Amino acid sequence: MFKKLFGKNTSKEQPFSDGSMDLVKGEDIPTHIAIIMDGNGRWAKKRSMPRVAGHHEGMKNVRKITRCACDLGVKVLTLYAFSTENWKRPKSEVEFLMRLPEQFLTSFLPELMERNIKVEMIGVMDSLPEYTQSALRKAMDETKDNTGLVLNFAMNYGGRAEIVMAMQQLMNDVEAGRLTIDELNEQHISQYVMTAHLPEPDLLIRTSGEVRISNFMLWQLAYTEFWFTDTHWPDFDEACLKEAISVYQNRNRRYGGLKGEETN
Ligand code: FPP
Repeated sequence: MFKKLFGKNTSKEQPFSDGSMDLVKGEDIPTHIAIIMDGNGRWAKKRSMPRVAGHHEGMKNVRKITRCACDLGVKVLTLYAFSTENWKRPKSEVEFLMRLPEQFLTSFLPELMERNIKVEMIGVMDSLPEYTQSALRKAMDETKDNTGLVLNFAMNYGGRAEIVMAMQQLMNDVEAGRLTIDELNEQHISQYVMTAHLPEPDLLIRTSGEVRISNFMLWQLAYTEFWFTDTHWPDFDEACLKEAISVYQNRNRRYGGLKGEETN
């Protein structure tokens, strides 16, 4: 049933029968949306709940937003789930966060398959606990031939670490004579980062009121449109996503050049 929703957004077939699709234009859906899912802790605190309850609710929201992105025809959804800096949190919170991929993927994998969604990750897999690695590996393996939305988890990911790793590979290639320093250009660097096979994000969303990018996709966000909201991640629903997309659709992306009659 879901597979027919992939490809073009034919409005008659949209699952948004409540009319909320009217907010977004079907023909200019961002190809790649990246989200900094912030505010789980504050969401929980407001309800006098432990921080981990906020993370649990945040995980449930990943399902909702994945479904919505998929139905809208987004091609790549990158979610910042655990940064290289998040290891500094209390051990019990880190452990809870490390269990989330397993919980999420065990219950959601059949629907991911049904929806033709491909699971991928960016970040350093090797330093994750064994159970986190095996949940991610299983999901990536089972969904590897899916051709719909790429659900890309940034786990143990840091933009600066990614650039260091890219530089190491690049210098190896220079040393091995596969590339000269004079040949080096921006496309080369794009090929060494972890998203080499993906388009750069069109839209970055950060929830919960902070207005910074916190070491996320530093290379890839050069021309991305940013949208910030005060809403905490667990409350960020389909309407919020559509609002962000609608704002994006009304932006004028110039990539440093001029647009429209200004060019005449
Ligand atoms: C930041 O909010 C959020 C995180 C560090 C974790 C985000 C993880 C999820 C939303 C769930 C991921 C799900 C899967 C399936 C991997 P915070 O806790 O720093 O919030 P605060 O700033 O209000 O304290």
